Amino acid sequence: MTLVFATNNAHKLKEVQEMLPNSIQLVSLKDINCEEDIEETATTLEGNAAIKADFITQKYGMNCFADDTGLEVTALDGKPGVYSARYAGEPSNAENNMTKLLSEMAGVENRNAQFRTVICLNLDGNQYYFEGICKGTILTKKQGNQGFGYDPIFQPNGFEKSFAEMDSADKNRISHRGLAIEKLVKFLTEYVA
Ligand code: IMP
Repeated sequence: MTLVFATNNAHKLKEVQEMLPNSIQLVSLKDINCEEDIEETATTLEGNAAIKADFITQKYGMNCFADDTGLEVTALDGKPGVYSARYAGEPSNAENNMTKLLSEMAGVENRNAQFRTVICLNLDGNQYYFEGICKGTILTKKQGNQGFGYDPIFQPNGFEKSFAEMDSADKNRISHRGLAIEKLVKFLTEYVA
């Protein structure tokens, strides 16, 4: 079975492919010659993941999955959430996003937050959702220089370091995206068995 992963991130694609049985062949947006910029106009992670997956399924008639992730901060009523990538405005800039979040959190005692990834899968006419959550806290300043996005200011529960101070294998084991992908892989593996 050929399955589109609605991404152009070759690293992400390879990582998921290696977890899947050989009978499932993943292809990227580039592989199917999809060069359109699919606009993420929904107000929820579920909505944006579905927009991307539906675009491909409707236009190309292919099975497809897409993911969307947001950082949800309790004291900010779940913000930046679905707007995480462009929290400090367009174009997307991780440094500016962190600076904005740190200033909004200045003096705030409740620093609880979670990363949440939603995957929407369109498969043989049905739609399925998979969710991964990683709970933690927002630090008061940036720590570490690995990873991307909000990693330097997010400390996962049970660890004394930020995501940006962890190596990628350790982060993937507990991360929102890793957990959502694990659920997707389990489902697909059973589906083709
Ligand atoms: P996307 O849906 O994977 O593109 O994620 C949307 C935005 O959420 C990114 O632009 C980042 O700002 C943030 N984000 C997603 N995943 C992570 C992560 O693992 N660490 C830090 N920031 C992340």
